[in-house]
Amino acid sequence: MRGLILSGGAGTRLRPITHTSAKQLVPIANKPILFYGIEDMARAGITEIGIVVGDTGDEIRAAVGDGSRFGVSVTYLTQDAPRGLAHCVLIARDFLGDEDFVMYLGDNMLEAGLSGFVANFEAERHGGGRLPLDGSGSEAGAVAQILLKEVDNPKAFGVAEVGADGEVVRLVEKPEVPPSNLALVGVYLFDPLIHDAVRAIEPSARGELEITDAIQWLIDQGHRVRHEVLQGWWIDTGKKDPLLECNRWVLDTIKTSLRGELDETSSVEGRVVIEEGARLVRSRVRGPAVIGAGTVLRDSYIGPYSSIAAGCEIVDSDIENSVVLEQSRISGIPRLADSLLGRNTEVFKSGLRPSATRLMLGDHSHVDLE
Ligand code: G1P
Repeated sequence: MRGLILSGGAGTRLRPITHTSAKQLVPIANKPILFYGIEDMARAGITEIGIVVGDTGDEIRAAVGDGSRFGVSVTYLTQDAPRGLAHCVLIARDFLGDEDFVMYLGDNMLEAGLSGFVANFEAERHGGGRLPLDGSGSEAGAVAQILLKEVDNPKAFGVAEVGADGEVVRLVEKPEVPPSNLALVGVYLFDPLIHDAVRAIEPSARGELEITDAIQWLIDQGHRVRHEVLQGWWIDTGKKDPLLECNRWVLDTIKTSLRGELDETSSVEGRVVIEEGARLVRSRVRGPAVIGAGTVLRDSYIGPYSSIAAGCEIVDSDIENSVVLEQSRISGIPRLADSLLGRNTEVFKSGLRPSATRLMLGDHSHVDLE
């Protein structure tokens, strides 16, 4: 079995962060989202991974390399423009060969590992299934497997309709009137028949070849598409609030590790990771939280569910439930919460008169003043 991770796309919903960097490289608990997917594949025994990249390909290549640090071998496949998830399968045809594969959207994260999902598919393929409509062949197992999750806003996703017999009968991408609240999670399992499906479908109204339509094509041809309903958490991290939520889920699983320096007036409570070279001076960290390598906290408080990346300087500030990327500087801010700050960001109080808020923001920025 091979792996295909989709890491293209413009990341418009995470602007301005994604003006300068790939959405799949935004860190969760100080590790890029994409790395969780690669590690999950490696754990499921998938070592040949294709990564589809677009405009941010150079950055993804620099971060992931040849995959050896994850114990996998990575092949990069370039997509010229965001032409849809099914288009990614189309351009990965040679890489995938005639093997089954897992397709994983690089901005999705889920609690459950891939191993069980893959094992269930393999077991099913050697078991029963629906006969092909054309009467060919013997008993057929599932040709694809999808993962569904109940959501409050099904209009934002691909949605599945499950029939009275418990089988998926229909899939619709971003429906105006959703047939159910079961969203398609961005992890799919396919056998080589999907290559016929992606060649057979036409672009959708948004001009993309939808994987949802390709799976519907398999169903229309009389093939069985197996599904599982996900019990654990799942997040499509493409927006700020889901990203912060995902950061909370992951921080809830960390183990304390204090590799940096704390002066005698600093303290940590709860589960906290302080990476190498980080320094706490008259500061307090209440976990779950991670403080990146080389980051300095001075006269500050870092509260629960915060991930502060490497090389930051936090002075005389209180931060909670936030993700701060590398090399940022926050100074004199009494309460910063529910925030996502990009690299090299500066938030400070200058004390200049007249007392005012002075901003220099990138395009598509959001500011919520107290
Ligand atoms: C894509 C799929 C959609 C799926 C979602 C999961 O949507 O088209 O069916 O539910 O990923 O994250 P997109 O992120 O391209 O809007």
